[in-house]
Parts: sequence; C-alpha cells; structure tokens
Amino acid sequence: MSTIPGKSNAFPPISASTLAELSSIVSETYLLTDETALREHGHDETEDLLYLPEAVVVPANTEEVSAIMRVCFRENIPVTIRGGGSGLAGGALPVQGGLVISMKRFDQILLIDERNFQVTTQPGVITEVLQNTVKEKGLFYPPDPSSRGLSFIGGNISTNAGGPKAVKYGVVKDHVLNLEVVLPNGEVIWTGSNTLKNSTGYNLTQLIVGSEGTLGIVTKIVLKLQPYPTQSLLMLVPFRSAESACAAVAAIFQAGVTPSGLEFMERNAIDWAVRYVGETPVPIREEDAAHLLIEVDGFHLDSLYADCETITSVLAQYDAGEVFFADDDATKTTLWKLRRNVAHAVKRNSIYKEEDTVVPRAELPFLLKKVKETGAQYGFESVCYGHAGDGNLHVNILRGNLSDEDWNVSVPQGIREIFKYVKSVGGTISGEHGIGLVQRQYLDIVFSETEMELMRQIKKVFDPKGILNPNKIV
Ligand code: LAC
Ligand code: ZN
Repeated sequence: MSTIPGKSNAFPPISASTLAELSSIVSETYLLTDETALREHGHDETEDLLYLPEAVVVPANTEEVSAIMRVCFRENIPVTIRGGGSGLAGGALPVQGGLVISMKRFDQILLIDERNFQVTTQPGVITEVLQNTVKEKGLFYPPDPSSRGLSFIGGNISTNAGGPKAVKYGVVKDHVLNLEVVLPNGEVIWTGSNTLKNSTGYNLTQLIVGSEGTLGIVTKIVLKLQPYPTQSLLMLVPFRSAESACAAVAAIFQAGVTPSGLEFMERNAIDWAVRYVGETPVPIREEDAAHLLIEVDGFHLDSLYADCETITSVLAQYDAGEVFFADDDATKTTLWKLRRNVAHAVKRNSIYKEEDTVVPRAELPFLLKKVKETGAQYGFESVCYGHAGDGNLHVNILRGNLSDEDWNVSVPQGIREIFKYVKSVGGTISGEHGIGLVQRQYLDIVFSETEMELMRQIKKVFDPKGILNPNKIV
C-alpha cells in the first residue's frame, strides 16, 4: 500500500483535551486511536491508497453525531464519514487526517411501513441485509451495487449507487424519500417528506444524495419500496466481438424490452471472475470475446418468456453465439456471482484504476473502441465490464508492470482523453461510484468554471469551515 500520512497544515492536530471531550461523548470504548484501527479506517477499495486519521469515533445515535460535530466545528477538525469502506473513488479516505466517524453502530432497520411501501432505516445497515429484510415481507429495494454484501445503505446514498437493477428500477436517488442529516455545525435537519411527491421548495434530499459526505452526515433514511417481482429469467450470451455485444444493447430496448439487468463483460472480466469464483455453469469458449448477462423480471412467466424471445431475435442480428439460459436458482446465483465478483477478480490480478464512464446507451460500442484505442496509444491495458443497459462502462486500468511515471502521468493523460470523449457524446465521468478523491482532477472536463463555482458555493453554505470530508469533489 502507498501510505501517505494524513496530516496537512490546513487543520490543527486534535488536542488531548479535544480527544477527551470526544471520548466523553461516545465513551472510551468507542474512541479509537490504536494503529490497527487507524489503518483499518485509512483505506477503502480505491487502488492501494492509505491515509491515516488521527482518531476514529463510533457514535451510537444522532445526538452523539451532533455533539461530535459541534466539537469538530468549534475546533476546526476535519471529519470523514465511513460506511462499509467499499468505495472505489476514495470518498472515505481521511486525506487531511483528523477524525473518522464510523457509522457501523447505526445498524438498525427502524420501521418497515407495509401500508405505504416504505422503510425507515439507519445508515449503517448493510445493503443486502436491508434488501433481504424487506424481501421477507414481499417488498423490494432494487439498488444493488456489487458490494451490497459489504456496503452500507448510507454509503450507497453518499455515492448515489446503482448496480445491475438500475437499468429498470433506477439508482439510489430514485428510491430516497427523506433524510435526517447532521450538518457540519451539529444542527440536525430533515431534508424532505415521507411522500412520493414533493414540490415544496428546493430539493435538499437530492442535494444530499451523491454528495459523498461533503455536506452533512446522514443519520436516518426513508426509502421507497415496491412489490418484490416473483419471477425472473436470466441468460448469458457470448459474442465474437465485444463491440457487437455493446451494439446489441440499445437494440434490445428499441425492440420494446426493458431488462432488469443488462450487463457486459469482456473476455478477461469473465475469465478472471470464473477463476476467482471457482465455478461456472457454462464453459467460456475460445472464440468468445465478450458476454452479455441479461435478466428480465416481473410477475408473469409467460410475458418474461415472450421478452426473452424478442431479445434472442435481436441478438441473432448481432452475431451472438449460443444463448445459455439459467433455468434454476442455483445457476442464476452462480452467474450473478461471477458478474458481481469481477472487481475482486481484477484486483487479485493487479492494482487498477477504476473508471466509471457513462454514456447514452447507444454510444457504448464507440466508447469501448475509444477506450481500447486510447490504451494502445498510452500504453495501458484495461478490463471493461459494467451496466451496459445504462451505458455505464467500468474501465479497469491495470497497473501490471507499469512504472510510477507511466502510472502517475501517462495513464491519467489517457484517462483524460477518454473522459473528454465521454463528455463529447453527452456522457459523464462517473455513473455510480462518485468523484471522491481520485476523479477530482478530471472535473474540469465535465463542468465549466461557472458550474464549479456554484458547487463550491453550495459546499460553503453547508460547510463554511470546510471540515467535512475535505479535498473531495470540489
Ligand atoms: C460493479 C461495481 C464495481 O459493477 O460497480 O461490479
Ligand atoms: Zn457497477
């Protein structure tokens, strides 16, 4: 890991008396300053980056978070909020040292309101736990990032996470109704109302969603639910050409079908995932350059079979190979396991830079071509996969044997070129992972100075002292 001491001159160190004050808020047990805790809270899943905080607090409730923030505001202490630690843009890295607030004790689902199809939850609940708990009542919370077994629902809100289901059901922002938020000065607000409609003033809820812990600390969440679809069909489709696979994507929608998952994996992505997971229900053949994983879901099997027929007739026009249908739950689970483990599988092979490009769906084949051409020009290899139905391509740029110079200078130049292309076709540089620390340097590609200044002013209104998650986004 590249260890970078977190301290800078921008903020004073946390004094012994302030530490004692913080300890009196959360109790001694929940103020951590030992080396192991600092290291654990100094990294997320971003590359090999490590920034050590000075201390970690683990508060139990909103009142404690508010009291902690009052102290930090008064003392000018930088504060970074930590969820499950699965972020890929460095949003949870305490780059200025200071205090990390771990939300892991906020792990209670407070109320499942079956009459109104809503759940009120604390932010430290693991995404998959929330999904499984509401599913027991026949309810569905769709956003399902690959990290859902680790990530906290609060972290999903902070990045506006997506996942495979987003293509049909939308991303996190489409499911958040109302948020309790502690502001940097310790004041507590609610951002909206527990209603499906709300035209009352500025939309503070949506301002907090995706703000990556830079504006406030989410301490309570009201989410929208829907009935859990009882049926699904899943197929894995090989292609001889990765570009044809991408080209088939828009055509499926044009044929009138909205899949509940439409994922792309190029050859290395699936190969490495198969090796990582250790099983596959279907052999990957020599000639397969890429695969689409396509799911349809709903309540009536007949109509899902009809959707699959439509999809297969579209695929035939894009030189697809033999379609593999997963017809039992175990096979479906294995296929999804392969897809969800691509990021881990890539990391096992090499440190990588994760780029989260997103373009209007029909531009996807051209984006893939551009990524490969740029890699050839700047001397890097990439493994591409992602949420093709959303036009969201994860470009994993492999460190491999690249020199520091290549990794720190040439590769960012290549990324810049890819991002400029993305912008030129109406896309943007992050679809679901956020800007955090590592994508900040590219924001000038997508925002004008006027747009950036508006964001800086918004940050200032919420956080006049700049103590909350400093050096992130703006
Ligand atoms: C995925 C994560 C990396 O799609 O977003 O697997
Ligand atoms: Zn993803």
